Amino acid sequence: MNTNLSSSVPSQLETDCLVVVVLDRSEKDQSEKDQSKKDKPAVTVESSEAAVREAARDVISSGEVTGKTFETTLLHRPAGLKAKRMLLVGGGKAKTFSAAELRKLAGAAVRTLKSKSIRSFAFVVPETAIPSNQGLRAIVEGAFVGNFDPGYYKSDRNEKDQKIDALTIVVHGDAHDAKAMESAMQTGRIVAESQNFTRDLVNEPSNRMTPTMMAERAKKMAAEVGLNCETYGADKIKQLKMGAFWGVAQGSDEPPALIVLRYDPVGAADKVHLGLVGKAVTFDTGGISIKPADGMEKMKYDMAGGATMIGVMRAIALLKPKVKVTAVICATENMPSGRAQKPGDVQIAMSGKSIEIINTDAEGRLVLADGLCYARQLGCTHLVDAATLTGAVVVALGYVNAGIFASDDQMYERFANANKQAGEKMWRLPLDDEYKETLKSNIADMVNAGSRWGGAIFAAMFLKEFAEDTPWIHLDIAGTAWMEEAKPWIAKGPSGIALRSLVEFVKGWES
Ligand code: BES
Ligand code: MN
Ligand code: ZN
Repeated sequence: MNTNLSSSVPSQLETDCLVVVVLDRSEKDQSEKDQSKKDKPAVTVESSEAAVREAARDVISSGEVTGKTFETTLLHRPAGLKAKRMLLVGGGKAKTFSAAELRKLAGAAVRTLKSKSIRSFAFVVPETAIPSNQGLRAIVEGAFVGNFDPGYYKSDRNEKDQKIDALTIVVHGDAHDAKAMESAMQTGRIVAESQNFTRDLVNEPSNRMTPTMMAERAKKMAAEVGLNCETYGADKIKQLKMGAFWGVAQGSDEPPALIVLRYDPVGAADKVHLGLVGKAVTFDTGGISIKPADGMEKMKYDMAGGATMIGVMRAIALLKPKVKVTAVICATENMPSGRAQKPGDVQIAMSGKSIEIINTDAEGRLVLADGLCYARQLGCTHLVDAATLTGAVVVALGYVNAGIFASDDQMYERFANANKQAGEKMWRLPLDDEYKETLKSNIADMVNAGSRWGGAIFAAMFLKEFAEDTPWIHLDIAGTAWMEEAKPWIAKGPSGIALRSLVEFVKGWES
């Protein structure tokens, strides 16, 4: 998708469609007794140009437009405008309108218009409390995310593929700083294209995204953006004594891959070295503790954590913040076979700790245990991992929020700020010492699975044993990495969640 900035007055813009945000500025509250007031929201068109407001006047006064979030109204040949069409998109209550809403509106506009075979449009940056550079970035991000179509293997894709080719963003009065606007647009584009890069990896089925193929994709991306990328196979995993990772990988005919991406810019402070660790189980059958057939096809997305970290590194390489970052991605299948590990087996992790395998389906924590240990060995001072780790996090938080676990409050604060900026939904869950009890094994240092109660916390407590005293954050994205249904702003399928928060988090350490 081509993007360009325009500072022309919206009415004079020649475009297939001019998109304008409408907001509900009615002031009613719950105790409002006056029914008539309740029924009439004060809908405003978010453009300072009178011609634009005038073009929308009739449809608004008719009461058809309420400003409700994601409500879309398409007008043809709007009077007084050079645009062929005008699309009004509802942004909800003006009071709560933020960059996060605007991002979604841009996605919704893309998805509405592309379904009508419109290929290009112009989005007017609303004149609200959101600073224009932030608004502009949010629109670019939302539009790219909305333009992603997961139907890769539909044979009529080429005829039917509907995508927006060109987006113009119309900036207004306070946007005189052309350089800042240009840079906001570039940042938005880099972040969103990286998010789509991650979604691309996650969307592929396991026969087209084996650990080896994932390593190749990481290598290719790294060469394109100038990152250092090393990929290793079974020999190196065994040589590093990654017994937990290998325990999972040993059951598969597909070789595992250990992917290491390094970003080490000149001028970065040497006291901070961020480590990003990703679970990349390219297919999770459960192993010998095999999963039920129903829904097992979804386990192709069990590599989303790893794909997220690869996407984050892409964005970082292009945005060039001055902070050292290393990503460690542990890619493998989890298969049952004559060589597969069995319940009761004991594996010795790279750190030297022994693990009794209770359930071979609790494999993500095994590969991450060695990934975290390796990142520490490489000198990382702060660790973040992302993983589709537990069904239990979906029980706890549903498909709305990802789970955050943090061993260090200061690091959590930094992450929470980044997360807010990025407009992604996440919720912190606890890591009290009391939960440690459940890790006990009769034969080894710990078990890999315990009672089903508090399963997401158990998994996080397990990982904490391998992060040891290094400040660490764990993101459980099992419920959020895959959209179970389409939303107005995003297609059904891979979401690319956590990438934007992680990029923002990394940028926050810039020295
Ligand atoms: N990959 C799954 C977790 C998962 C579940 C991801 C649903 C996405 C959607 C993970 O490897 C797993 O199987 N976890 C088990 C752990 C249990 C055996 C202790 C689970 O959550 O059931
Ligand atoms: Mn599993
Ligand atoms: Zn898994």
